[in-house]
Amino acid sequence: MDKLTFALSLLGIAIAIMVLGSKIKTGKSLVFTIGFFMLVTGGFASYANWLPQTRGEVPAAVDTSSINVDTLSTDKLADMGAKIIFDDAAAMKGAGKGQCPLCHGFKAGELSERAPNLAGIPTRAGARIKADVYKTQVTGVKEACSGCGRATTAIEYIAESHSCPTCFVVPGFGVKGSNDKESPMPVIHKAPIELSIDELIAVDTWLFAREGATPPSPKDIRAAYEKFIPEADRPKPGKTEEAGAGAPKGPVILSGADKPQDIVVKMGCIACHKIPTTAGKFGAVGPVLMEGTNAKKRISSPEYQARVKAGKARAMTPKEYIMESITDPNAFIVSGFAQKANPGESLMPKDFANKMTYSAISNLADFLLSLDAAAAKKDGMLPAGG
Ligand code: HEC
Ligand code: HEC
Repeated sequence: MDKLTFALSLLGIAIAIMVLGSKIKTGKSLVFTIGFFMLVTGGFASYANWLPQTRGEVPAAVDTSSINVDTLSTDKLADMGAKIIFDDAAAMKGAGKGQCPLCHGFKAGELSERAPNLAGIPTRAGARIKADVYKTQVTGVKEACSGCGRATTAIEYIAESHSCPTCFVVPGFGVKGSNDKESPMPVIHKAPIELSIDELIAVDTWLFAREGATPPSPKDIRAAYEKFIPEADRPKPGKTEEAGAGAPKGPVILSGADKPQDIVVKMGCIACHKIPTTAGKFGAVGPVLMEGTNAKKRISSPEYQARVKAGKARAMTPKEYIMESITDPNAFIVSGFAQKANPGESLMPKDFANKMTYSAISNLADFLLSLDAAAAKKDGMLPAGG
C-alpha cells in the first residue's frame, strides 16, 4: 500500500469511527476523540502527499580517485557499482550518475521497453557472443576502435556494450528508423555520463554479484575495457567530479537558480533528447527538443485536441505544452513514441515534477521554447520522426 492509499484509508476509518461515535450513547466522546485524532493524522498524511517528494540528496558522486578498486572486497565494489547505477541503491530505484535506469529495467519481470532488462545479463552476455546475429549484424560501426576486435567473453561483451553501444545493437532496440544499425545508448565512458574504467569495474561487479554469480576480477574487467577503449580516450578517475559532466549531484530538487542548460544535463534529458545549443548532441530516444517549432504544431494538431476533449491534456499555449510534457508525459504522446506493449504510456520518465520546482520547470520551458528548427539545423540535428 502506498502512502496516499494508507492516508486515505486512515481518513475513511476516522470518519467511520466518528459517525459510529455520534450514533452510540455511552463512551461517545471517547470514540469521537479517537476518530478526530485519526482524522487529523490522516489529513496531514494526505496533505504531505501533495507536496513534492523531498528525496534528499543524490548519492554523493563516488570519488574513485581515492579508492583502489583492485583491492576492494567484492561486496564493497558491488555496493559502489549499485550507487553509481541507482539514486536509491537499496531500493534499486532512480537513476544515479550512470543514468542506466532511465532506459533499463533491472528487476526480473519489470517492464523495460526502452532497453533490454539487465536482469540475467551475465549469462545472456555469454550467449549473445555465440549467436549468429552477433557475428553477422551490420551496424554503423565495425569495432570499438580500429583493430580492437570484437568481444570473445561475457565480460568483454558487457564492456563492448558500454564503450561501443552501436558495435552490436540488440535486435528491436535500435534508434527508431535506423533498422537496428544504430544504438540509442550513450557511450558510457564519454560525456555526458563519462564513467571512468574504475567506475565501470564497480558497475560490472554489481551486475554479476547481485545475481549470485562470481564476478570476473577487477584486473580482468579492466583488461576488457582496455581492449575497447584506447589509452587517450580513458577518462581519468575522479575527472568527472572535477568537470561536473553529466553527474547529477547536489540536491535532486532543482530550482529557478539552476540554468536550463545545466538542468537538461543533471536530469538526464540529454540521454534521450538532442537539444540544440546544449551538451545534448546524441539523445535518440525522444524527439529533438526544438520546441519553438514543435510545441505550437503539437497543440494545434487534431490528435492533441482529441486529448483535450478526453480531459487528458490541457495546454493552451506552447509554453504550457512543454511544461505539461515534462510533468505529465502521458497527457499527450508524440506519435511514434509510445511504448509498444502499452500505447498509453510515454517512454519518458514520469517523476520530473518531484525533482524540480515550478520555477525550474518554467525556466526550462522558456529555454526550450527559444530553440527552433533553425537552431536544430545549425547544430546538425535533422529532426528524425515527430
Ligand atoms: C538512453 C538509454 C540508455 C541508457 C542511459 C543506458 N542504456 Fe544500455 N542500452 C540501451 C539500449 C536501447 C540497448 C539495446 C541496444 C544496444 O544493443 O545497444 C542497451 C544495451 C545495453 C547492454 C546490452 C544488453 C543486452 O541484452 O545485450 C548493456 C549491458 C547495457 N546496455 C548496460 C547499460 C548500463 C550499465 C548503463 C548505465 C551505465 C546503460 N546501459 C545506460 C539504452 C540505454
Ligand atoms: C528516457 C528517455 C527520456 C528522458 C530521460 C526525457 N525524455 Fe522527454 N520525451 C521522451 C520521449 C520518448 C518523448 C516522446 C513521447 C511523448 O510525447 O511523451 C518525449 C517528449 C518530450 C517533449 C515533447 C516534445 C515534442 O516535440 O512534442 C518534451 C518537451 C520533453 N520530452 C522534454 C524533456 C525534458 C525537459 C527532459 C528532462 C527533464 C526529458 N524530456 C527527459 C523521452 C525522454
